Amino acid sequence: MEAIKHATVIGSGVMGAGIAAQIANAGIPVLLLDIVPAGQANRSALAEGAIARMQKTEPAPFMSAQAARLVTAGNIEDDLPKIAGSDWIVEAIVERLDIKQALYAKLDAVRKPGTVISSNTSTIPLALLTEGRSEAFQRDFLITHFFNPPRYMRLLEIVTGPKTDPALTRVVSDFADLRLGKSVVHCKDSPGFIANRLGVYWLQVGVVEAIDAGLTIEEADAVIGKPLGIPKTGVFGLIDLVGLDLMPHINASLSKALPAGDAFHAANRELPLIKKMIAEGYTGRKGKGGFYRLNRAGGGKLKESIDLVTGEYRPERKAELAEVAAAGKNLRTLLSSPSKIGRYAWRVVAQTLVYAAALVPEAAEEIIAIDEAMRLGYNWKAGPFEIIDALGADWFVARLEEAKLPVPPLLRAAVGRTFYAQADGVRQYLGRDGAYHQLHRPAGVLLLEDIKRVSKPVLKNASASVWDIGDGVLCFEFTSKSNSLDEAIIALLGKTIPLVKAKHKALVIYNEGTNFSVGANLGLAIFAANIAAWSEIDKLIAGGQQAYKALKYAPFPVVSAPAGMALGGGCEILLHSDAIQAYAESYIGLVECGVGLLPGWGGCWEMLARWSASGLLPHGPMPAASKVFETVSTATVSKSAAQAKELLFLRPNDGITMNRYRLLADAKARALQLAEGYVPPQPVELRLPGPAGRLAFSSAAQSFHRRGLATVHDLVVSDELAGVLSGGSADIVDPVSEDDVLELEREAFMRLMKTGGTLARIEHLLVTGKPLRN
Ligand code: NAI
Repeated sequence: MEAIKHATVIGSGVMGAGIAAQIANAGIPVLLLDIVPAGQANRSALAEGAIARMQKTEPAPFMSAQAARLVTAGNIEDDLPKIAGSDWIVEAIVERLDIKQALYAKLDAVRKPGTVISSNTSTIPLALLTEGRSEAFQRDFLITHFFNPPRYMRLLEIVTGPKTDPALTRVVSDFADLRLGKSVVHCKDSPGFIANRLGVYWLQVGVVEAIDAGLTIEEADAVIGKPLGIPKTGVFGLIDLVGLDLMPHINASLSKALPAGDAFHAANRELPLIKKMIAEGYTGRKGKGGFYRLNRAGGGKLKESIDLVTGEYRPERKAELAEVAAAGKNLRTLLSSPSKIGRYAWRVVAQTLVYAAALVPEAAEEIIAIDEAMRLGYNWKAGPFEIIDALGADWFVARLEEAKLPVPPLLRAAVGRTFYAQADGVRQYLGRDGAYHQLHRPAGVLLLEDIKRVSKPVLKNASASVWDIGDGVLCFEFTSKSNSLDEAIIALLGKTIPLVKAKHKALVIYNEGTNFSVGANLGLAIFAANIAAWSEIDKLIAGGQQAYKALKYAPFPVVSAPAGMALGGGCEILLHSDAIQAYAESYIGLVECGVGLLPGWGGCWEMLARWSASGLLPHGPMPAASKVFETVSTATVSKSAAQAKELLFLRPNDGITMNRYRLLADAKARALQLAEGYVPPQPVELRLPGPAGRLAFSSAAQSFHRRGLATVHDLVVSDELAGVLSGGSADIVDPVSEDDVLELEREAFMRLMKTGGTLARIEHLLVTGKPLRN
């Protein structure tokens, strides 16, 4: 088989439906099958229902409406022969060996030879799944273990058997990497594979030790979360998310499958409290609540949590732990603290890291697989071996010996050195043979993280850096808090442009933060407003406009490569780029109206120009202005890069990269391609609807207000936006230039900045993190 062009997913439950959606997100048609439900006239009701439900689920499994249309529903009784048209069949049915085996027997009879079959099982060994199947089946079979939700979790664990065809494995892992955007981790055929084997152990230890130590769940989560670079859900919050009811099943299946000497057995104590909670329907966020709940009794919204001693709910007690705060600076201090909290942290961390070290080579060939699995499967910032490096293997082993805890050989081998090292600019890891090995990035993967480790920035200030990423391309990286935009970024852009012009071919704007940029630094704006430093704000607007315009007309190509949120000014920098190469999970929008402002760095003009030139709208100046008004006044943010195309934040020939690791290399390739015979864009003029258009927008806003959909200050903001988008006082027949509109943006922005309504919105957002609807 050359490539995967059509897929079938069997089982339309939580995982099957989500996997089908992600395959469709990659543009591949999928057949989704389930059993025929008893007593239903519609024999494909289960799969059909799953597809319909996914179109209403948040966070959305589908990246676009177009993707949803690629999934076809069916049932395994009538439609099984259709799988002959598929190159890949994913089984995601109930976790029962007998049912899975019976299905495989049927599949083997109808599939076309060479079709890959993979199971999404989380616990059943491959050796058992393929028992009794033909040689040909065993050659074509592997386990592809996705994480929930399949669109958003980047880890894919792959397990192959001794007879699995390596060529097929390569086809599936390439497809998963390039098209589904997954980071593929190869695991041994051992219980729970890697992430859940370690993750479930860690959760179990976290719960048992908290109960034994008499901690509150808030204390336990606070200490196990942030200080270790683990999401703030910690242990109890994560169990709420996964579902308390799943825990006993997962624990039982691991306990049955793991050898007698495994450390899991000692931690796997039955917990009466959890049993009671499940029996009473407290299964976590999907049920009435779990360790934490929102008590809505009496119409209120009281945050409560379980008291681990009494087993009863009580008002949530925010843990205020000076030690945890101090650990932000030094984890060793926390783990050495003789307090209750310190001892708990030590016991959980020590046991978890020791267990991790014992998983090589039983579950993972090398440490890198375990670190990647925990980073992407459990969202840990650092994997267990990276945590050990941060602590110091020597220190850690000495502490273990003091505590009379076992020291696995792999851990002992790291004494006197580190698990990760560096030689000749390449990252290395400590292999289980005791030697260092190069950490190879696959072709097409380029990480700024790697470049930063071995080079110095060519330019740098407090909020941004510029890196040489080779082949004549520079990379502009935001480094400010949340990558918010400020004067320093604008200033560094100003210095970067002549540098690229003089010595390089192209510029890529990219960073490896969670979010590309959350927009302008509002804290600075409000500070300036509070001391009435209006000229400072005006200077920032004008400076940003000039810098973005200079980027746009620079004699070299600029490619922006967003991932995560690109909002406000972060979106405007994309709009001024020659091309965008976006990570599939990009959330792009001009959200200024939400804080009582409007796009002031050319966002209004660029969106008007895009819609006017799109050929998608009827003739005349009004339709484009209306489209932009609709998108900007409602602060619409795309929920994917695919949706950003529909909103024209991305143009039709802008690229989308499914795998986060491949984004920079794709953007660089695009920049180099554009650099060949590059000609900067020519300024254009637009016809805008003029004062009559403004009136039309304002009356539309009024009608929203009457229907309770727009607030009083919304009217003020949308009227200013209408003024800009209609081209001010220009008559409908006069063409309007970019500079005209930039001027309008700037004036309107300054007027809004001086209103009490806008200042209140900004202050509220900065203090509470939530929008104010005044
Ligand atoms: P689920 O209970 O949500 O869905 C199971 C689906 O299988 C249902 O739609 C059911 O109608 C269907 N089904 C049952 N018997 C069938 C048969 N003979 N033929 C076709 N369909 C049949 O279960 P979920 O959670 O989606 O799990 C599916 C698989 O994925 C299991 O192997 C599970 O271990 C694994 N898994 C689950 C994860 C999770 O977080 N829920 C994560 C990773 C793997």
